[in-house]
Amino acid sequence: MRIILFGPPGAGKGTQAKRLVELYGIPQLSTGDMLREQIKLQTPLGLQVDAVMKSGGLVSDDIVVAMINERTSREDCHKGFILDGFPRTIPQGRALNAMLEARGEAIDVVVGIDCPDDVIRERTVNRRSCSSCGAIYHLTSMRPTVDDTCDRCGHVGLTHRDDDQLDAVNKRLGKFHNETAPLRTLYGQILQTVDGTQSPDEVTAAIQVVLESVRRQQRLKGLAGLASPYAGEGYGAGHGLAAAGGSIKASVAAAGASWADDSASTVTDDDDDSADGDSADDDDEEIIELPKRSPALLKGVGA
Ligand code: AP5
Repeated sequence: MRIILFGPPGAGKGTQAKRLVELYGIPQLSTGDMLREQIKLQTPLGLQVDAVMKSGGLVSDDIVVAMINERTSREDCHKGFILDGFPRTIPQGRALNAMLEARGEAIDVVVGIDCPDDVIRERTVNRRSCSSCGAIYHLTSMRPTVDDTCDRCGHVGLTHRDDDQLDAVNKRLGKFHNETAPLRTLYGQILQTVDGTQSPDEVTAAIQVVLESVRRQQRLKGLAGLASPYAGEGYGAGHGLAAAGGSIKASVAAAGASWADDSASTVTDDDDDSADGDSADDDDEEIIELPKRSPALLKGVGA
């Protein structure tokens, strides 16, 4: 299943994506993590984007589109993936559609995680993360067991991101409302929203309900011999994404080439192992075994 996690900075996309990786065995593709890795490695790309990211601005569409084009074409994305932080602008959404359409693929569902701005400010200012394994903590709601030490990998010295200073957070919120939120209109019928102010477990359960419902609809459509509304040309046409496909395909290809030239060999993704480790029938489109859930956890799911 190809999933987009959609929401403002600090809504919990990264927290939830890591849980979904564990549950479903498909990789998390976080453009923020990929870019931070480039900065850490001091590559030409990292040096280019460092200041923009610190200030809370957006990296140019060409760069992130090329990254995602290259990353989604890798073997471990064959069964699906979880996009976290991409797309973030209308041109990125159109480019994503074009690159998937060129491969006969489509996004199955966009899961929106709703969270008001004041909650976002509190979460980001108090967020800490592990620079070694990427685990995410919060100074009050998700503290590590031992202060300043990662529960998952034992790394000592949790990091407070530069762009989690209040000024940068406010700028990121502005970017979200002005440039990212309009993507909602592009995703129309495949956007399902959950309440991100619930506990992390409740948010995970709500997302599972959404994914289960999408899978059920796809199975029913398959049984009836109908094309899925979530796949193929119907999706692109239905969302006004197909029109610009030709020119975007060209720009995706061009951007992909420059990305590969500059830094493809240095891009890393911590989730590759878990995805590769899942050896279920690779060629079968019915790939996700949905874990059991409690009906009580339906709370917070809305269209
Ligand atoms: P990116 O890394 O993608 O940042 P973001 O989208 O702003 O999202 P965050 O990582 O800040 O938050 P999150 O939603 O993952 O929340 P988290 O789970 O950590 O991007 C960073 C920068 O890179 C951008 O500003 C831009 O410059 C650049 N960039 C990236 N992608 C780009 C693109 N496509 N185009 C252009 N530029 C791009 O949770 C936050 C905190 O809340 C944590 O402390 C967590 O413990 C806590 N928390 C989570 N869930 C809950 C809960 N349910 N209850 C209580 N606390 C919770």
